[in-house]
Amino acid sequence: MEDLEKVLVDFERTLSGLDEKGILSYWIFGEYEEAEIYWKLAETAEKLGLPASLIGTFRDLAKESEEHGDTLKRIYMRTYGEEPKKIDIPYIEAEVLARALKDPENIPYVLKIAMETELVAKRLYERLAEITKDENARKVYKYLADVEWTHYLRLKGEAGLMGIHVEIPMAEAAQY
Ligand SMILES: [Fe+2]
Ligand SMILES: [Fe+2]
Repeated sequence: MEDLEKVLVDFERTLSGLDEKGILSYWIFGEYEEAEIYWKLAETAEKLGLPASLIGTFRDLAKESEEHGDTLKRIYMRTYGEEPKKIDIPYIEAEVLARALKDPENIPYVLKIAMETELVAKRLYERLAEITKDENARKVYKYLADVEWTHYLRLKGEAGLMGIHVEIPMAEAAQY
């Protein structure tokens, strides 16, 4: 089983060698991959006859992840005057979620992984907000960190509605 600490360690390692431009190039595509995973989760949840609100949440998170990808792409193009190039490091969020999807019946596990990855995304935006020298971009990164937190809370709410208790030890520490 994946656990958040391991995900975060891998993630910090990936990020520590990257500057803002590198993180942005990485995460633009990370958000798009995450969106695809959420579309697949919505489909799977529908097939399994899971609650409509869960399916709706997966769809909303897919749409918002796409929007995040677009927002980051705009910042990137405005700042660097070129199209972002895909960099060859694994997309931890999307990869972990894809692994969880291989066992789609295990909804508590899928929800746990999704919640963990939202916290990872929140952390990434906080890091971008810390290192950027662009005040406008900082505002956007802070806003996106808040949005990722609401994604975490929405998933947690869905889990609660289904009577699933998800324990994430790092969650409290991730709170502002
Ligand atoms: Fe996102
Ligand atoms: Fe998210």
